[in-house]
Amino acid sequence: MTRGPWPQQPPATTAPVSAEPLLTRDYDADPALVHERLRETYGPVAPVDLLGVPVWFVMGYEEVLRVLQNPGGAWSKRLDNWKMNAEGRLPADWPLLPVFQVNNSTFQEGATLNRLRAAWTTALAPFQDYGHPQAQQLEQAVVSHADDLIGVLAEGGAAGWADLAAQYARPLPLMVADRMLGFTAARGEDVVMDIWRMLDAGPDAAAAFERLYAAMTELGAAKRESPGEDLPSYLINAKPDITLDELARELLMLPGLLDFTGSLVCNVVVEVIANAGVRESLSAGAIDEAVNKVALLNPPMANLTFRYALTDVKMGNYTIPAGDPVMLSVAAAHGDPRFAGAIDWHAIRSTRAHLAWGAGPHSCLGQVLATRIAVIAVQRLFRRFSKVKLALPADQLPWRPSPFMRSLRSLPVQYELARVPAPPADTAAAEDSDAQTAATPAAGAASGAASPADEPAGKPSRSPLWSFLRGLRRAR
Ligand code: HEM
Repeated sequence: MTRGPWPQQPPATTAPVSAEPLLTRDYDADPALVHERLRETYGPVAPVDLLGVPVWFVMGYEEVLRVLQNPGGAWSKRLDNWKMNAEGRLPADWPLLPVFQVNNSTFQEGATLNRLRAAWTTALAPFQDYGHPQAQQLEQAVVSHADDLIGVLAEGGAAGWADLAAQYARPLPLMVADRMLGFTAARGEDVVMDIWRMLDAGPDAAAAFERLYAAMTELGAAKRESPGEDLPSYLINAKPDITLDELARELLMLPGLLDFTGSLVCNVVVEVIANAGVRESLSAGAIDEAVNKVALLNPPMANLTFRYALTDVKMGNYTIPAGDPVMLSVAAAHGDPRFAGAIDWHAIRSTRAHLAWGAGPHSCLGQVLATRIAVIAVQRLFRRFSKVKLALPADQLPWRPSPFMRSLRSLPVQYELARVPAPPADTAAAEDSDAQTAATPAAGAASGAASPADEPAGKPSRSPLWSFLRGLRRAR
């Protein structure tokens, strides 16, 4: 690692012998403080150790944006451009290797990337374009799933406490993923449970990944035989030459992306609870604004998967040698004083110039959908609860240790259910389940009225997923 000129501090002529580990207890507790310290010591780019592997951690807003936009094509996302990997020096058991080996569009470039992104854009359109019946049905399903989940957590009574991460914000988007994938209800539930195992990267994660890959391949084959109104069928239709292997790898992205949506929901709930002004006026517009503010203050995709330098690139106070990886930190870029210092924090509408949805050739294609899911989830929650308060001070909430996401491990709250007034006629169907569940939570959760429209009545009381969710409630 070669060091370049640096005006504030005497320039070091040699690279650090061993870079400091990034993922420490301090980092889990307060990444912003760690960013500040690293910035002070190294400037906008810091050499760090990521679980035993040296990586350049990019924290400057301008630097992150430049690499994302990749104007001169100096950066590659392909794993084979990582020198350490090509030379066989990457430990075979490096914990993040499976993430990089999935080799889906996230790790492609050029024509292959363009074709896959075009397919994603077409396939997501029916879910994101509100004029399409799929988008409207999905929205109704989000409402139903939200109501079911609130019904289950409220079964103990009209007031109590709950973990809104495990019992609400996490399962809800994964149920949406399940629906978009077009699984049958029973198969879909196994998949949701395996997705949790995979994303939590526990001891059964590898086996869960194998099962998920097999499930996605099987699903792709079934949809090729008999297409439906779902993401796999739309992807096949948009890219008829996609192989089953390619399709399975692309489909595996969806649950992860929806888990990021779950993190976004949690972070917005905390923001809404902490900010009485927003809590009192919960229009969709106010929540939409809260979503943007949270994306700015606490981006769920905090750090991005690596880019590799194709030539020596001078950045910050260093020259990044060809073949070295950089990890772009969106969270640190948002805290960069050159960016954060220019923001009007009192503005009614927060800046959209943040990088929470990425930028450039790999920018997020699901922003509209993720925002809509988050807005509905938060709106439903606060419509159903008359009171919600954090059961822990905001600065003591526990975060999931992760190199990539900023996600709450749990979100303990105390709540009181509201009695919902009679709804306007056009929202009567959705609101009916509200009113019933608020009046008699247990009856509401188990009744057909609170079940998702496309699932058999009473399913929430029978299936393994709902038993699991009830187990969480009983365990409290
Ligand atoms: C409905 C849920 C979502 C869908 C369908 C979706 C879709 C996608 C897709 C297809 C990509 C890959 C683009 C590529 O590599 O070319 C992507 C990238 C990205 N997404 Fe999303 N996304 C969702 C939720 C989210 C959420 C909640 C966030 C965080 C606020 C997010 C932030 C990003 C970022 C930062 C990237 C770029 C990653 C990079 O450049 O390395 N996405 N998204």
